[in-house]
Amino acid sequence: MSATAKKRAPMPDDIRAAKGGTPLVSLTAYTTPMAQMMDAHCDFVLVGDSVGMVLHGLPSTLGVTMDMMVMHGQAVARGLASAMMVIDMPFGSYEESPQQAFRNAARLMSETNAGAVKLEGGVEMAPTIAFLVKRGIPVMAHIGLTPQSINTLGGYKVQGRGDAGDTLMADAVAVAEAGAFAVVLEKVPETLADEVTTQVDIPTIGIGASAGCDGQILVVDDMLGMFTAFKAKFVKRYAHLADDGEAAIAAYAEEVRARTFPAAEHVFSDKAPSK
Ligand code: KIV
Repeated sequence: MSATAKKRAPMPDDIRAAKGGTPLVSLTAYTTPMAQMMDAHCDFVLVGDSVGMVLHGLPSTLGVTMDMMVMHGQAVARGLASAMMVIDMPFGSYEESPQQAFRNAARLMSETNAGAVKLEGGVEMAPTIAFLVKRGIPVMAHIGLTPQSINTLGGYKVQGRGDAGDTLMADAVAVAEAGAFAVVLEKVPETLADEVTTQVDIPTIGIGASAGCDGQILVVDDMLGMFTAFKAKFVKRYAHLADDGEAAIAAYAEEVRARTFPAAEHVFSDKAPSK
């Protein structure tokens, strides 16, 4: 699949069918203008619960609510025409039971028009993934570093090193067998990501994983240099918008104080312009 040759937004089955082909391109988005900027270039766009950290200043994703996801999902949907929208299930909205997961996934899908939901977890979430998929909700899985579990994982560490690689492989196989149409691999060793990509029959979407994955995703504010509180090793900054933005604001402040803004071209005369 190529992002430029598309006529309609892909469906989860199209994403699944892209396994082994041209790498899938994905970014997170939280607002309409950002979604519009990436629509022509991405195969799918994730309304990630990272919104809590990058837009709302929360210390982790744990404080993100269903209402926040619905509001940002609706904003992103208004900016997309040719990329599929996937939306994150926030912490506490799906772990209790498959029924709880269905209720909240159905709300996210019906109120935002998302094409699929994403949830974190491997073997332990496989029954929930199967429950949702059998009831019409496409699921993208997310394993490896799962930020909603930082308190039990002991922080934002690389996952699956050494013997833990077997557990991660079991997670990947379990979510694929449960019916997930793709799986995000976050912060896992490159060789393990490559092995998982070979072993499972659904696309692997890497973030801090391997160029050998079937696709890549980044948090858009990270790659644009908008989020500067910290930079993970796996982030490549393609722009420095926070620096550019601050320089622009400083220039504006200086011009306002010097009365050089607004200039003649920004103000109105009392005569109507001649035709
Ligand atoms: O919330 C998010 O942005 C994510 C991506 C980092 C995969 O889950």
